[in-house]
Amino acid sequence: MSLETSLGGKVALITGGGGGFGRAIANTYADAGARVVITDARESGREVAEEVGGSFILADLSDMETTRELCREAIESEGGVDILVNNAGLQHIAPVEEFPDDDWARLVQIMLVAPFQLTKYVVPGMKERAWGRIINLSSIHGLVASPFKSAYVSAKHGLVGLTRTTALELGEFGITVNAICPGYSNTPLTRGQVADQARTRGISESDVIEKVMLEPAAIKRLVEPDEIASLALYLASEGARSITGAAISIDAGWTAR
Ligand SMILES: NC(=O)c1ccc[n+]([C@@H]2O[C@H](COP(=O)([O-])OP(=O)(O)OC[C@H]3O[C@@H](n4cnc5c(N)ncnc54)[C@H](O)[C@@H]3O)[C@@H](O)[C@H]2O)c1
Repeated sequence: MSLETSLGGKVALITGGGGGFGRAIANTYADAGARVVITDARESGREVAEEVGGSFILADLSDMETTRELCREAIESEGGVDILVNNAGLQHIAPVEEFPDDDWARLVQIMLVAPFQLTKYVVPGMKERAWGRIINLSSIHGLVASPFKSAYVSAKHGLVGLTRTTALELGEFGITVNAICPGYSNTPLTRGQVADQARTRGISESDVIEKVMLEPAAIKRLVEPDEIASLALYLASEGARSITGAAISIDAGWTAR
């Protein structure tokens, strides 16, 4: 028996769809036949929506009420969400004693509270249709820690906890929930933190790439967004229907030691 790999007839909502992973996942899902709804706080998301023939909702997930509105709008305009990809994220590098309270709380809102809210609002429709896929973009930093990333590491660990808990609650309704844990990848998010890491650690930018980002890895290169998109497609497919509550590393061996 061969299992369905097409996403025809499915609606996928992708947060942070204007960024590196979001764009790759949107293209891969659209190629597989899904109708894609992109949301992002930046207009770059609109360009991606146009590229994949989908729709765009401008929304800042740092605000709880805006996040609720986004859920309502996506569900009403599309008649439901079958695949939710909680992908929006950002980095802030600072020693814990210098980390601004508001920035810490903002990162946790965007990368943990908003995924909870989106999950909460899409689940009733998924239950009615007895089918759903929730894919949370966590990180190697959802599994292990690095210094100067207290908010990011806490949010990404929390997201793995949310993944496991909701997987247990939703398994009997045909809904799977999984976390993807990428290593350092070739996207604007990684490129943007090189200078910050160099300053905070007191090392050169080339040392950040060679020693901090690549040295722990078995394969000495950044992960490409289309590799993340392939895994996101697999997790949305019928072939992955027994995978739930998993935190899957795609990190060039970064967390193997
Ligand atoms: N690139 C990596 O090395 C890497 C590694 C592990 C995990 N991740 C995670 O993967 C996800 C995607 O990362 P990426 O590398 O594509 O980053 P990216 O910066 O290219 O894209 C992230 C997107 O999220 C959006 N976003 C940020 N704050 C938002 C907000 N308040 N409301 C709505 N949208 C917002 C940004 O506008 C951007 O388009 C993130 O959750 C990130 O933490 C990335």
